[in-house]
Amino acid sequence: MPILPATPENIQRAAQLLRNGGLVAFPTETVYGLGANALNSEAVAKIFATKERPSFNPLIVHVLNAEKARELVTTWPQNAQFLADAFWPGALTFVLPKRDTIPDSVTAGLPNVAVRAPSNKIARALLDAAALPIAAPSANKFTQTSPTLASHVATSLGDEIFVLDGGSCEVGIESTVLDLTQNVPILLRPGSVSRAQIEEIIGAIRWRKEIEYSISDETPRSSPGMIERHYAPRATLIAFDDERELATLIEQFSDAKIGALCLTLFDKKLVRAVQMPTSVDEYAREIYRILHDLDGENCDVIFVENVPSNYAWDGVRDRLKRASTPTK
Ligand code: TXA
Ligand code: MG
Repeated sequence: MPILPATPENIQRAAQLLRNGGLVAFPTETVYGLGANALNSEAVAKIFATKERPSFNPLIVHVLNAEKARELVTTWPQNAQFLADAFWPGALTFVLPKRDTIPDSVTAGLPNVAVRAPSNKIARALLDAAALPIAAPSANKFTQTSPTLASHVATSLGDEIFVLDGGSCEVGIESTVLDLTQNVPILLRPGSVSRAQIEEIIGAIRWRKEIEYSISDETPRSSPGMIERHYAPRATLIAFDDERELATLIEQFSDAKIGALCLTLFDKKLVRAVQMPTSVDEYAREIYRILHDLDGENCDVIFVENVPSNYAWDGVRDRLKRASTPTK
């Protein structure tokens, strides 16, 4: 199946395909998703098979709005309503106790389901046309870099997949995931909606422990196992702090095809240096596309200048850490 423009006709075709138990890749504001009818476990099984994703990894269910989300969960705490009012439709996912209508395959057997209402117009038109909740992880093979262009989906999953082309994704990294089943909500995955923005609405939340390690600049490098390799390009990613460290790395890897993502303007004589935006929103929007591009250019190694250590950069920092190969 080719990449198709997201015309009303093709959105209807995609919706029909979903209703018939098929898969559709579609744009969201974060990354492209690989969607299936969330109420049909056979359809959901196709997602895991196509992505080569382990079945213990639960999926996010996409809905139009809070009203539709409430149909999938057994409780809708006040915090969920406050956050939905503030951030939906948008890049914030809630984890809540699931109803029995959600098959276990969606939640990997967990009693909770992840739900979010995307803001992307094409995603919303598809949800509306299909009139179904759509389970959708990022539309790439497991552990590879997430797709922010329709062509990334085809490169990763092949041209068997029906892809609705919605151009480039506005946010560029996956949604923030928040567990609302506990008294004090837990941030499971940082994203473009920052911890500070969430706390402004509902008060103090907590990090999941592993994130604390992967985010913190004091990460003990001797325990790299804490950082799951994920969102990874083919090239090896290595972080650096300053120009001197960069120069040393370049020397060390003199035989390799080198790429470098720089926030600071360095005097660098590299094969491929990319000047990254210093605004976090723009950085997030660009990062996966640049990693896909450098992979396409067969870079062996990508040096990445460390990003700022404040909350706003948590999502980007988390993705870079997970894409990095621990060096010690
Ligand atoms: O922005 C996004 O969230 C994109 C687009 C397509 O919406 N989707 C996405 O899905 O990133 P995926 O499958 O790559 O990531 C799902 C995340 C994982 O970190 C998973 O562990 C968590 O959500 N998750 C899903 N269901 C959960 C559950 N029941 N309990 C805890 N975590 C859950
Ligand atoms: Mg993913």
